[in-house]
Amino acid sequence: MTDPHATDLPDDLEEAILELKRERNAILLAHYYQEPEIQDLADVVGDSLALARAAQNVDRDVIAFCGVHFMAETAKILNPDRTVVVPDLEAGCSLADGCPPDAFRDFVAEHPGAKVLTYINSSAEVKAMSDLICTSANAAKMVRHFDGQPLIFAPDRHLARWVAKQAGRDDLIVWQGACVVHEQFSAKRLAELKVKHPEAEVLAHPECDQAVLDQADFIASTTGIIQRAVDFPDRTHIVATEDGVFHQILQKVPGKTLIQAPGIDESCSCNQCPFMRLNTLEKLYLCLRDLEPQVTVPEDIRVKALAPIELMLELS
Ligand code: 13P
Ligand code: SF4
Repeated sequence: MTDPHATDLPDDLEEAILELKRERNAILLAHYYQEPEIQDLADVVGDSLALARAAQNVDRDVIAFCGVHFMAETAKILNPDRTVVVPDLEAGCSLADGCPPDAFRDFVAEHPGAKVLTYINSSAEVKAMSDLICTSANAAKMVRHFDGQPLIFAPDRHLARWVAKQAGRDDLIVWQGACVVHEQFSAKRLAELKVKHPEAEVLAHPECDQAVLDQADFIASTTGIIQRAVDFPDRTHIVATEDGVFHQILQKVPGKTLIQAPGIDESCSCNQCPFMRLNTLEKLYLCLRDLEPQVTVPEDIRVKALAPIELMLELS
């Protein structure tokens, strides 16, 4: 849909974005789930851990964050003196949105004495109630940090189950959230696909349902999935995560055979994150031109959320 403010868009958007990036002294950070055209313009493309690290070290005036809201918010928490803009403020996340701060506060209060480990896919307010943050790349290590202590894990129940197994725990207190994209992969249709491609290795993100993970040969964060596909260039891979990762793999291994894991609904592109894909080149141009929408975090929440994020970066 055309943005109502999108007047006088330049013909060559890519060139105009690069020019604005220079004028604004901006850095462009993009998650692997962004459109290929956006990934190609970015200074850093990465998973949520790599992007948090990159944001922490930015010395430019502006961070243009192409990802979802919690990622840009994390950048602002880590580097509050930068102006953080996003192409679309509505780019949320079903995990973050499914864990409202008030309900989470009550949940934590129901388990006095428990430590709180929160997935980075959460709001700043929820992070501010946490002892430690994790991403899918370091979740098992972060769980082990609390060996022997009662532990809340929020907000993804699938990641929680996977990570509990990795860390040898069966007592995690789990907030029952899920990702709309990873939950829609169909275990039944994946089993059928594997019969058609017995040579293929299945790569899956730990946000997938257990019945899908049971069929996976390799489970990892987006960076881990990309690396595995690149490390075995001649192998066919069935991929159970958002298909934005295909772009990075194909850039490194052109012509590689990649098959998207099938969704429950055959008729939709539900394997694309509806929030990530709200970001477009047009909106990226406009946010750099107008320096809005900006992501802000109230200072009291920022300070409380900063400590568990910094601890994660130290530990991982
Ligand atoms: P990564 O930590 O692998 O980047 O995953 C983020 C995410 O939102 C997965 O859906
Ligand atoms: Fe959130 Fe899922 Fe989209 Fe990742 S893919 S940003 S977890 S809704």
